[in-house]
Amino acid sequence: MKDNIKQILENESLLKKYGSPLYVYDYEILKERCQDMAKFKNQLEKDLDGIKINIHYSTKANSNPEILKVVKDSGLYVDCMSPLELSINEKCNFNKEEILYVCNNIDEEEMRIVHDKKLLICLDSISQVETWGKLFPNTNIMVRINPGVIGIGHNEKVITSGSKTKFGISENNLSKLFEVTKKYNLNIIGVHQHLGSLFLNNKISDYIAGVQSGLNIIKKYFKNIEIIDLGGGFGVPYKSEEEKLDLSKVAVEIKMILKDFCKRYKTVKEFKFEPGRFIPCESGYLVGTVTAIKHENGIYWIGTDIGMNVLVRPSMYDSYHEISLLNDRNSKKIVANICGNVCESGDLIAKNRLIQKPEIGDKIIVHNAGAYGYSMSSNYTGRPRPAEVMIKNGKVKEIRKRETISYMEMNIVW
Ligand SMILES: Cc1ncc(COP(=O)(O)O)c(C=O)c1O
Repeated sequence: MKDNIKQILENESLLKKYGSPLYVYDYEILKERCQDMAKFKNQLEKDLDGIKINIHYSTKANSNPEILKVVKDSGLYVDCMSPLELSINEKCNFNKEEILYVCNNIDEEEMRIVHDKKLLICLDSISQVETWGKLFPNTNIMVRINPGVIGIGHNEKVITSGSKTKFGISENNLSKLFEVTKKYNLNIIGVHQHLGSLFLNNKISDYIAGVQSGLNIIKKYFKNIEIIDLGGGFGVPYKSEEEKLDLSKVAVEIKMILKDFCKRYKTVKEFKFEPGRFIPCESGYLVGTVTAIKHENGIYWIGTDIGMNVLVRPSMYDSYHEISLLNDRNSKKIVANICGNVCESGDLIAKNRLIQKPEIGDKIIVHNAGAYGYSMSSNYTGRPRPAEVMIKNGKVKEIRKRETISYMEMNIVW
């Protein structure tokens, strides 16, 4: 954490003003990651003779408009997966060419919204293509394929390719897909795949193999495809010993196979990528407060107000986040389980973590919390979602208010 951000967090009034816990984003890091992706785009475009590369930030990772504005200012586009994400994208001035609707198991009403707005939709099963075809024959669509290879991911719940995933249409079902598209005169202009979430340098070859597998399927079965979307998955190091993803290496390796593909497959005009996590993850800190400390059965438990409703990744995926205390107490280090305030045994932020013994009231920071943090938060056990602030040029800007009890009670029919 940079010193200037630490100094601002050390200011007691921040949590008093916005409440604890609090999501804090560092504008500078966010901007750097957007620029990294813009460089990746330029590096690929340079050698791909006139073929466009577009980066669609996956809104699901963090949909705060202030984050999306930085994405937009960096020349990146977006993908969205629900009417609310779409509405936020529109309010952040992304136009319809810059928004891709990538969805899964949506109903007719949602399809109508996408159609009425003239957005490009990416449908991910034959059943969804059939529903769309009945409603909107003679239209252009994208379809999501399952490239067959076992996907990539930090946990099996985020692997989205291979035989165990709900996503995409497998190679052996493509003839049925083409029957349906023929029946409704649907024109498949694009093919999408997403292997899963989080690869780092040691898995670049798996990512490339997955891309190659998808391209082979496209070459073999699809005609006149103009857009190929290679999904997201670009990882960030959560542990200090992990290396940062070398995006220029990914670009070099992927460029070779895209170039080769384009030599044989002449109709492609654009490749898309959909990074989510990579963009906001490292800019985000979740700051909370230690509320209890106990030692039972030989185990230290540090209780905090960072419940699984605020950050679900550790409970849901056993994910690792670096955790530190804001103020160095010079106290002895203990091995502790660090947990939240939700009444579930699985409500743990970290297991067996070596940490300085805190005192009640100390501020605790969960690092790399900018992606799939707030966006996956909930009101479980009736707890409000926290506020979010962005720090830019040393100034703190509130970018989402903490929920209040009266807001949470608003939709209850008494
Ligand atoms: C279809 C699709 N595209 C892109 C992403 C973004 O993935 P990541 O955050 O790993 O880059 C996801 C996330 O799971 C996704 O489901």
